[in-house]
Amino acid sequence: MEQELNTLQTLAKAELNTVSSSAQLEEFRIKFLGRKGEFSSIMKNLGKVPKEDKPRLGQLANSVKKELESLFHTKKQSLNTSSAASDDSSVIDLSLPGRKPETGKLHPVTQIMNEVCAIFESLGFSVAEGPDVEHDHYNFEALNIPAHHPARDMHDTFYISDSILLRTHTSPMQARIMETQQPPLRVIAPGKVYRCDSDITHTPMFHQVEGFLVDKNVSFADLKGVLTIFTQKMFDKKLELRFRPSFFPFTEPSAEVDIACVICNGKGCRVCKHTGWLEILGSGMIDPEVFKKVGYDPEVYSGFAFGLGIERIAMLKYGIDDIRLYYENDLRFLSQF
Ligand code: FA5
Repeated sequence: MEQELNTLQTLAKAELNTVSSSAQLEEFRIKFLGRKGEFSSIMKNLGKVPKEDKPRLGQLANSVKKELESLFHTKKQSLNTSSAASDDSSVIDLSLPGRKPETGKLHPVTQIMNEVCAIFESLGFSVAEGPDVEHDHYNFEALNIPAHHPARDMHDTFYISDSILLRTHTSPMQARIMETQQPPLRVIAPGKVYRCDSDITHTPMFHQVEGFLVDKNVSFADLKGVLTIFTQKMFDKKLELRFRPSFFPFTEPSAEVDIACVICNGKGCRVCKHTGWLEILGSGMIDPEVFKKVGYDPEVYSGFAFGLGIERIAMLKYGIDDIRLYYENDLRFLSQF
């Protein structure tokens, strides 16, 4: 029996070394340690051995069983650990195709803004930027719009305090630049502006580019020439422009400029309110009152100014029929541009 136990111990250890899966380990357990396994069948003979040998052989049997059980548990643990490692999602499968990182793009309104600025820069205009949070003085007073002037109603202003507001247009930059610089001036001022206004052609925050030119002998023909060149460059074709008499307290005479609606080709649609025309800017000859407020002599200098709505240009350029789409942050819409 002693011989059998020793042989069993050697055989079992050798076989355990070849076990490499849980299924094989279970087979090992049944074969050597199970109720009908080899260890049990040797133990059945313990009753037949001489009485004096029983304690020694019993002890030997116990130590063989304990060692085999301990080796079995160690093997079981090591198999569990290696199968967990192979399930680990952090293991990298180098054969998988790579994931393309999403690349960002400029917002379509930013793209149009850059294009507009580049066109005016090519015409010799320099770029200036001013604050979104503005003094009532620059937004209104300096532009010949005193308190209680009815023209203030046109602007649907967001006030921060009695004298501080979110600028409603980029025209305050006319006064800011003219009070610090002397003519000749040829400046554009791009930026965000704010009005309490929202429908398919209006958003509460939108972008304008202010442009103004001050020198001796500047005429309305110069204004028309610059804006015509601008629209030709912007839309790559000779689009029809309409100068419609209008009123701004800081220009005289004033005109709003409409462009033939590129969405319906002038036939009439919901964007152009069935007129065939879409307003893209306000403009005019700078009012002598504005010059006087900044210390320019209106007898010597004259100038023109305009304020372009960038989102309107982006609508026309891309054929978009609802301005609010630009600000819904829907990547399916934005990634097209
Ligand atoms: C002005 O803001 C004048 N400051 C423009 C100006 C500058 C006139 C210099 C004379 C001399 P108006 O309110 O019309 O004008 O706005 C100019 C352009 O901004 C409009 O033609 C339109 O294209 C755009 N615009 C106006 N309101 C909105 C709005 N809520 N959402 C989007 N675009 C708008």
